Amino acid sequence: MIIQGKEIKGLFLAPMAGITDAPFRTICIEHGAVLTYSEMISAKGLFYDDQKTKKLLSKTNPSEPFAVQIFGSEIEPMQYAAQYISSLNPVLIDINMGCPVSKVVKNHEGSALMKDIKKAYKLTKAVVDASSVPISVKFRSGFEKNNLNYVEFGKAMESAGASCITLHPRTRDMFYSGEADWTHIISLKEAVSIPVIANGDVFTHKDIEDIRKKTGCFDVMIARGSLGNPWIFSNIIPTTEQRIKVFKHHMDLQIEYNGEKKGIMEMRKHGAWYFKGLHNSAKLRDMIFKAETKQDVVNCIESVLEKEI
Ligand SMILES: Cc1cc2nc3c(=O)[nH]c(=O)nc-3n(C[C@H](O)[C@H](O)[C@H](O)COP(=O)(O)O)c2cc1C
Repeated sequence: MIIQGKEIKGLFLAPMAGITDAPFRTICIEHGAVLTYSEMISAKGLFYDDQKTKKLLSKTNPSEPFAVQIFGSEIEPMQYAAQYISSLNPVLIDINMGCPVSKVVKNHEGSALMKDIKKAYKLTKAVVDASSVPISVKFRSGFEKNNLNYVEFGKAMESAGASCITLHPRTRDMFYSGEADWTHIISLKEAVSIPVIANGDVFTHKDIEDIRKKTGCFDVMIARGSLGNPWIFSNIIPTTEQRIKVFKHHMDLQIEYNGEKKGIMEMRKHGAWYFKGLHNSAKLRDMIFKAETKQDVVNCIESVLEKEI
């Protein structure tokens, strides 16, 4: 896509709460992602100067092409967040209007905004006005299966000033069940003039080719398909040696970013994903879950995997 004169074309790392921290985003950039998104960041958290929230804005690769995703439903904190983040000069600020989690929906945030298009319009317009970088909106096909309002919603976001939009073509009530309906991406693309980023159920290179062919969108955003698999961005099927090498590099970045204790805790889930499907992977996962230091993790990998290479 071309966004305010800048061309960004290819595969994007989707925003994922608890996953797309600075170390993981760096790994994905190193493997070919052309744009990465932060975890969803609470506008209110920034507004009230919460330090944990602010840390989500940091980078481990200073030249990372980075998008920041914010969520909220009130104009004042959302405008504050847009101004604050603009000063960091990200490629874009994305507004989360798709999160299905009950805690978020109860606060009228995330996908709840799809139930009130006027409110979503006002919020987006206010954020566009407050920001000096482009604004995008990420949303679903609708809040409920029997009210697929994504076309009307996308048009409203365009007229509110969004520079691009991303559709995850499931409804809120589906959460992650069933299939993403890529035909919704086609209909949305036909209805608006701003770039549409395709998302949903892309796990393999064949899926990337298929979604591009079916929707006509070259820019594809990948979430679950990247877990333990940054090679999705570079069309490579990794060897066991490559998995070990990148996992260790990821672990070093994590430790640098979070310290050894928290870094190793974070790497537990990544370890399960990186080594999934390998011989003895369940045993290795269980061992890594008990590891507390970098040396413990290295010992686990050596005792289970490296002796087999
Ligand atoms: C663990 C996890 C966390 C997620 N967190 C966010 C988030 O913070 N913001 C958001 O817009 N979407 C979030 N999503 C949704 C993804 O960005 C994406 O839209 C969805 O998973 C569909 O893409 P996929 O089929 O490639 O996984 C999350 C998904 C997962 C699996």
